[in-house]
This record gives sequence, C-alpha cells and structure tokens, in this order.
Amino acid sequence: LNYRHAFHAGNFSDVVKHAVLVRLLLALLRKDKPFVVIDSHAGRGLYDLTGEEAQRGGEWPRGIGRMAGTAHPLLEDYLSLVHSAGEGRYPGSPWIARALLRPDDRLIACELHPEEFAALRRTLGADRRVSLHARDAWEALGALLPPTPRRGLVLVDPAFEAPDEFARMEQAVGRAVRRWPTGIYALWYPEKNAAAIAQLHAAAAAWPVAEALALSLPVGARPEPDRFGRRALHATGLLLLNPPYGFAEEAPMLLDRLQTRLAEPDAAPWRIEVLRRS
Ligand SMILES: C[S@@+](CC[C@H](N)C(=O)[O-])C[C@H]1O[C@@H](n2cnc3c(N)ncnc32)[C@H](O)[C@@H]1O
Repeated sequence: LNYRHAFHAGNFSDVVKHAVLVRLLLALLRKDKPFVVIDSHAGRGLYDLTGEEAQRGGEWPRGIGRMAGTAHPLLEDYLSLVHSAGEGRYPGSPWIARALLRPDDRLIACELHPEEFAALRRTLGADRRVSLHARDAWEALGALLPPTPRRGLVLVDPAFEAPDEFARMEQAVGRAVRRWPTGIYALWYPEKNAAAIAQLHAAAAAWPVAEALALSLPVGARPEPDRFGRRALHATGLLLLNPPYGFAEEAPMLLDRLQTRLAEPDAAPWRIEVLRRS
C-alpha cells in the first residue's frame, strides 16, 4: 500500500472521474427515492493542493487547474462542489458523494490504508448517513452487495499498484453484478495496458447488466516508455454499467468539453464504446 492519492489529487483523471460521478449522482437525485453510494476505494476524502505531496506530484495544474473559468451546464455542479471544498483544496469521491446526499440517502466508503482511513474518518465520520470501513474493497464488494435500498451507485477506483489489479477488478465486479445486476457501476482504470482493458471490456460485455459503456479520454499523445519501461498516463478510462437514463446522450457533450479544457492538441479524440446494450 504505497499509493497516496494526495500526489495525484485534482489531476485530469480525477476531473473526468468526478465530473462523471456528479452527473450519475444528479440522475439518482431526480427521483424522490433514497439511494446508496458505495465507494470501494475512497481515499482520504479531501486534499490540500498547496501541500507537499500535491506540489511534488505536480499533476493538478494540468487537471483542475485547467478548468478555471469553464462554464458549461454539464460541469456546473461538479465545479461548484470543488469550489465549495475551499481555496487550495480538492474534494475526493466520498466528499463529493456526501455533499449530494439527502437525509435518507447513504454513503458506504472503504479505504484500506490506515492513515488514509484515519483522515477519511476525520473528514466524513460525524455523519449518520455515512458508514466508513477500513477493509479490503474486493472483499467488501462481495459482502456489501446488494445494498438496502437496492438503488444506487458503486464507484470502483483502485490504485492500480498491484500487477493483477485488472484481474481483481474483473473478478470482484463480475461477482458484484451477479449479486446486484441493477446497480449503477463506475469503474476507473488507467489507459496503459491495451490487452488488460480489452479483457475487462470483453468480460463486461457478458455481464448481466442492461448497458455497459466504455469512456476513453486522452489528454496527449501516447508517451514513450521511460528507462524502466513505465509510461506516463496519457488517457483515462471509465467503464459504466447501467448508466442512468439520459447519460449516454449527454456523455459526448461532457467529454467534448472536458477534452477541450484538459487535452493537448496531439491527443486522440475521446471515445465512447457501447460494450453491451440489451
Ligand atoms: C485512486 S485512490 C482513490 C481516490 C478516490 N476514489 C477519489 O476519487 O477521491 C485509491 C485508494 O484505494 C486505497 N486502496 C488500495 N488498495 C485497496 C484495497 N484493496 N481496498 C480498499 N482500499 C484500497 C488506496 O489507499 C487509495 O487511497
């Protein structure tokens, strides 16, 4: 567990992931029925962009730093939530989800790293709508699903430190969708390993969900590997299962605007692939 999201908070992947998360949550808020958000890899909840880690990471200026002055109806709520986190701060997924809960909605968040968990508890703990678990996400997904009420969203946002993270994701989410096939799921992954992504997409196409969409947003040309064979992240991926009504129609406009703000001119265009639609 070496990964610390504080080095990456507010980067382009966070912007894309959280802008989509807010659209999914707003769709759940359209109905007067309570929902549950399960955030399997929650992080610490709130990040200091002026702190040492964020400065050393140096990623947010090319992420949330490029969103200043953006005015677009599909980004308005996300940007105003970021603004409400305070000057020099960037909110994580559990903070964003909590900010949108109504009195009967719930958030269940898991975080395995002890220090990240302690920080998460300090940030979100004192709220009866929120349950925090210091437990392994992959094990928790099996135990926590299906939730009560059976309406809501699962965000799966691993650190991708372990070499078999794609396989673990496929296995755990494959089991989760069998237990709860009508939930909305949003899975984040780095766009580096084309074979691993193709395998995840093939699995998702066979899962018992109504719809599976793969979103891809490059922000630059694919970089050459460094001397250790590692590539910097140039594109962010999201797999959405059962996206709510209307999302597939608005997603092109959302990705278009995000790419306009976040990407260099040499980036390949964003893509949305329908992996399954029944
Ligand atoms: C990419 S960060 C999450 C960021 C957060 N979802 C957000 O959007 O603000 C991944 C987090 O997962 C935690 N983590 C890593 N392995 C885990 C596991 N097996 N179970 C639960 N959390 C884990 C890491 O400590 C890290 O805080």
